[in-house]
Amino acid sequence: MLAPADVARLRADLLAAEYTLSQVSERLGDVALEALGRNTTAAARRVLGTASDPQAEAIRLWLLQLPVRRASLQHWQSLPSLLEAGLLVPVGEPEAALLVATVELKPHGSDRREAWICSDPTPLDTVTAEPRPDFVLGASPASTTLTQLVPPGHYRRVLDLGTGCGIQTLHLEADQVIATDLNPRAVALAEISLGLSGVDAELRTGSLYEPVAGERFDLIVTNPPYVISPPSQERLIYRETEFTGDGLMRQAVSDGDV
Ligand SMILES: C[S@@+](CC[C@H](N)C(=O)[O-])C[C@H]1O[C@@H](n2cnc3c(N)ncnc32)[C@H](O)[C@@H]1O
Repeated sequence: MLAPADVARLRADLLAAEYTLSQVSERLGDVALEALGRNTTAAARRVLGTASDPQAEAIRLWLLQLPVRRASLQHWQSLPSLLEAGLLVPVGEPEAALLVATVELKPHGSDRREAWICSDPTPLDTVTAEPRPDFVLGASPASTTLTQLVPPGHYRRVLDLGTGCGIQTLHLEADQVIATDLNPRAVALAEISLGLSGVDAELRTGSLYEPVAGERFDLIVTNPPYVISPPSQERLIYRETEFTGDGLMRQAVSDGDV
């Protein structure tokens, strides 16, 4: 989706726009951030007002899912590759005057580094688009809980099974991390999250232990799809698994030889 050099350019653009967790948190303040946690953008939009500085434009583009003027992004070194990869697309008239992001890039907290999570856009009050079938979830409270449940320590080899947006890998301390997912789009977006955050991990596509057959790990971290909607419904929350009920978890434990 993005070559490593393009990801490096995007990181430099994000830093130049002061689009990091501490800087964005300071700009928006607690009330707007808490409202965003409830998928409501009104307070954040009020804080930004009509400001057109690079940080305000980055917040609108990557966090609030609002269109921004293409002219305001002209100095972004990553602009050509973002357009080519379809991560930014033109909207409205005249053609290409406004750009909107097709993914969310959320500044993320980590003790050790500036980090960003790349995922499909969180449903917000600014957006009514239907989620795509290969939707990649951003970091949820369940994801954060799991990062905190991992026993502290430095590991040699770790498997992050079902990496999604890559959040577990961002928090792991290990000599080698293999991050896998059934969904190729998740692998592509996790690659952006990890590249932006300067985390070295190997990404592989495939179901359960298929991509790591015969390999041994000191730790396996997984936050599997856990909300199963009735199969008769079309709007399933976790559509990406071929298992029903708790089948995936059962298989992960029994095949994991743990
Ligand atoms: C709840 S999300 C967790 C994502 C991320 N690890 C986190 O903590 O937020 C579950 C992830 O498991 C992936 N998944 C579903 N079935 C899988 C399977 N059979 N093998 C590998 N990954 C799978 C999904 O594509 C999705 O990215």
